[in-house]
Amino acid sequence: AAVEKGNYRHFMQKEIFEQPTVVAQTLASYIHRADNAVALPQVDFDLSTVKRITIVACGTSYYAGMVAKYWFETFARVPVDIDVASEFRYREPVLEEGGLALFISQSGETADTLAALRHCKEEGQTIGVVVNVPTSSMAREADLLLPTHAGPEIGVASTKAFTCQLAVLAALAAHLAVRKGRMDRAEEQEVVRHLLEAPAALNAALDFDDDIASMAHLIAPARDVLYLGRGPDYPLALEGALKLKEISYIHAEGYASGEMKHGPIALIDESVPVIVLAPSGPLFEKTVSNMQEVRARGGKIVLISDEEGLADAGEGCLATIAMPKVHPLIAPLVYAVPVQLLAYHVACAKGTDVDQPRNLAKSVTVE
Ligand code: G6P
Repeated sequence: AAVEKGNYRHFMQKEIFEQPTVVAQTLASYIHRADNAVALPQVDFDLSTVKRITIVACGTSYYAGMVAKYWFETFARVPVDIDVASEFRYREPVLEEGGLALFISQSGETADTLAALRHCKEEGQTIGVVVNVPTSSMAREADLLLPTHAGPEIGVASTKAFTCQLAVLAALAAHLAVRKGRMDRAEEQEVVRHLLEAPAALNAALDFDDDIASMAHLIAPARDVLYLGRGPDYPLALEGALKLKEISYIHAEGYASGEMKHGPIALIDESVPVIVLAPSGPLFEKTVSNMQEVRARGGKIVLISDEEGLADAGEGCLATIAMPKVHPLIAPLVYAVPVQLLAYHVACAKGTDVDQPRNLAKSVTVE
């Protein structure tokens, strides 16, 4: 049956709002509710022997991979390499024996990613695939198939597939940590408990839709927008910038907060909004200093943080967006919502074709 928009104006909007449901659906297939343990579907694959993980993907899926690198290294202490697929094969990557090559793709058909997968297969890597289309080429060629259950994604700019990828990757990181002896049962249960809080937190984030819609006019006139984030929220800054440029055609760049002083700070003046993604936590104060650097140059800040962060640093911002206070593990999932909604509402304010942005394709099957 054809997928319908229902009461939504655009598929992208509908897909943003589906996230609590589809993330819950995806998590359900990776979590054993009876004992709050992570269970990988389909293959009983021994991850305890994995020495190195190579992640390859494109676009939004690549940013999901960047978040996962933080998780795999922090939780499981397994070293991770990550590349965009179009670069991967041509740099003659060193692939050690016993490595897991992990491909992340909504469609499972992106030509560069598929070519990278085949290269790794020839090199004897174990092939893991996080994919939303279970009948896709990548799914068929996987040793370890990890499906996302986002349902069909129609909007060209990926939204719900991204948060479902993050859900699968977080579960995989916890499973890997257990198999590597880096996480005991109690810690695993704790992580699982936080993962299961994600759908409610996504709902809470979606509650700010009206607030975000009403501030879209502040961003719509900008020629350039900067997104800043740290740690696992740094890839979210990249994703926020990608979403904005894809559908509103505003030039945007994502930067690691601490790297701003090495370049982008030169661009800052009153006309460049700076979107700061910063959940409160140990590194929050460092981000506050970065915000001061922006302010000292007349820059206007939109701070996306939780109540604690907003109380600490919200004053003097052009606008603030309040997120629920969540465990750092699920913050990248939750902070995906405001960046998606902001791009969506800015694009609507500019009157662009949100679901079919110019020059872009849903699935890129040419190299
Ligand atoms: C295209 C789409 C993006 C997507 C990327 C990777 O560029 O417009 O939204 O993130 O391809 O696609 P994949 O299906 O491999 O995740």
